[in-house]
Amino acid sequence: MTEPLILGIETSCDETGAALVRGRELLADVTASSMDEHARFGGIVPEVASRAHLEAFVPTIDAALDAAHVTLDDVDAIAVTAGPGLVGSLTVGAAGAKALALATGKPLYGVNHVIGHAAVDELVHGAFPERFVALVVSGGHTSLLLVTDIATDVVELGQTLDDAAGEAFDKVGRLLGLPYPGGPYVDKLSQTGDRGAIRFPRGLSTGKDKARHPYDFSFSGLKTAVARYVEGYEDRGEEVPAADVAAGFSEAVADVLTRKALAACEVHGCDTLVVGGGFSANSRLRDLAAERAAEHGVTVRIPPIRFCTDNGAMIAALGSALVRSGAAPSSLDLPTDSGMPLQTIRV
Ligand code: KG4
Ligand code: ZN
Repeated sequence: MTEPLILGIETSCDETGAALVRGRELLADVTASSMDEHARFGGIVPEVASRAHLEAFVPTIDAALDAAHVTLDDVDAIAVTAGPGLVGSLTVGAAGAKALALATGKPLYGVNHVIGHAAVDELVHGAFPERFVALVVSGGHTSLLLVTDIATDVVELGQTLDDAAGEAFDKVGRLLGLPYPGGPYVDKLSQTGDRGAIRFPRGLSTGKDKARHPYDFSFSGLKTAVARYVEGYEDRGEEVPAADVAAGFSEAVADVLTRKALAACEVHGCDTLVVGGGFSANSRLRDLAAERAAEHGVTVRIPPIRFCTDNGAMIAALGSALVRSGAAPSSLDLPTDSGMPLQTIRV
């Protein structure tokens, strides 16, 4: 018997995503982004994102169904992001998914976006091991998870207490006069700098802070340190050593992320680390994760970047895992939750 066909719908931020997954096989994945509409504002404008989802919703789903050579009738279950994310964007996706579920009589699963960032890796690297640690890093989230079963048992080990890693990169990008979103530009610039030239602070990494927050992150002190450093040069009328700043900053972020993720693997006896979210494109994070994981005998699984940024495949993958595990569908009046806790896999 063939496995159930799942339609996944993602609208938590600025990407409208729709994908079809059967079991752990991805059949189609289509994404429409409204990033171009936000770039001139230097940040995502929630109302603009909501309207863009409204316009892209039906065409994106139609394109995914066409690409998979299936129709809505063939779909066995629908999964949609219920949170966390921008409340207006979540509402558009959830309302659309409810309408589809009601019209077709298909079961609906409202799922956690952050857990989807980890779940998508099964479509690329195959079934998960019994237990693993997941590091989900993007412009909106920085979370460390202990996953025993992606459909039923996810424990939040830690998260950022202030900025997300990508968000910190975007702010440093702005300080250095780079275009928005600054993450990829800071990354590129950092590759031409000396990462040992400037040592920036590592948040929650020593003494009492570390003991109290072994798996939490904080990037606001680092961001302030970078700002002070840059201002010092500007006040003296000297040219800012931008490449060294970018390299030292990238090193601080990647150092903390990988150190804490691998400590979690060691403490919880996991030999697999899954990394997801748009920030996993970061070159220093990738290199340092590979280097340190090898030292710890840990295997790192990072999906290709198109599955790390927000997409429908991650939601379909988590929906598929839920259906496989026999989880009951969500109610048709499922709530969206912009601050959905990580313990909630499905609402
Ligand atoms: O997952 P994503 O596309 O959207 C969110 O859910 O936030 O992540 C985008 C974030 C942005 O902050 C972007 O600047 C950052 O990830 N980013 C990077 C890199 N590529 C994307 N940050 C550092 N280095 C990169 N190579
Ligand atoms: Zn995301």
